[in-house]
Amino acid sequence: MTTALAHPNIALVKYWGKQSKAGNMPATPNLSITLSELSAVTTISDSDHFQFHLNGKQVDDPKVSALMSTMTDTFNLPPLHIDSTNNFPTSAGLASSAAGFAALVTGIDAHCNLGMDAALRSEWARRGSASAARSICGGFVALVPPDWQAQSLAPIDHWSLEVVVAITSHGAKGVSSTEGMERSRLTSPFYNQWLRSAGDDYAEASGAIATRDFAKLAEVAELSCLKMHSLMLTSSPTLSYWTPASIACMDRIRALRAQGEAVFFTVDAGPQIKAVCLPESRVAVAQALSEVPGVLEILCCPLGEGARIIDD
Ligand code: DP6
Repeated sequence: MTTALAHPNIALVKYWGKQSKAGNMPATPNLSITLSELSAVTTISDSDHFQFHLNGKQVDDPKVSALMSTMTDTFNLPPLHIDSTNNFPTSAGLASSAAGFAALVTGIDAHCNLGMDAALRSEWARRGSASAARSICGGFVALVPPDWQAQSLAPIDHWSLEVVVAITSHGAKGVSSTEGMERSRLTSPFYNQWLRSAGDDYAEASGAIATRDFAKLAEVAELSCLKMHSLMLTSSPTLSYWTPASIACMDRIRALRAQGEAVFFTVDAGPQIKAVCLPESRVAVAQALSEVPGVLEILCCPLGEGARIIDD
């Protein structure tokens, strides 16, 4: 029996749209920070048939089954029992699949002695869900061509950013990221512009991280997030993942920044708001967001490590 743990990551330059070739490769370079506190813990054990349990219930997850079938063929794996538990809402825009696939691949690699390095684990996690490629690494992480295997941009101690998550709904999302990004690729009139500008956003954000330029990172990360949500809104049928409380939180974060707090927002394919801040602003940000009507819960996460084995 082998147990692996991985954290979700939050993209600061977003991935929204895939290349047409096989391998689940993003169409554009993207960049994230890995969180601590929130985690997927996945235990792999031998079994007489393949079984996948998520949060205590047996589930038939087509993405997990597809990845398991490719890995089984490639590595001649025995039947495995996989038990995965998240300590945070699943499928609600908190990157549960990112943490889940990173923990799954890390656990299988160790349990079956496949001898993968981090880059190869990242590649296999990407095949499950491309954002999961980034959760293999800790701190500041890039997912870029030509290999599309995540690489560390900087370790956790490079810059102690913190993330305050405002939960505005505990429900699972109606349209998956996979389906949503394909819809945007096919129908949003802004998709080609998104492809053209992503390289510059990536270069600007990675430069801002290298020089710890918070104002610059805030500007490019909010813009990348809002460009992605513009693609969603201009897809046909339209996609909107926000609740009124999500919008109120974004307004509150802009107001806090105008008052001098070091904070910016980012939002994925779900209604939760992630406020990225410097440690000295965390208390004020958490307090202010907890007072926004419709905010159900506040979570505070410093940066976290990459996927790892916790019990073998
Ligand atoms: C909005 O990684 O969930 O979180 O590769 O199809 O599984 P698939 O998509 P997924 O998409 C994540 C999209 C996002 C932005 C991001 O994390 O970069």
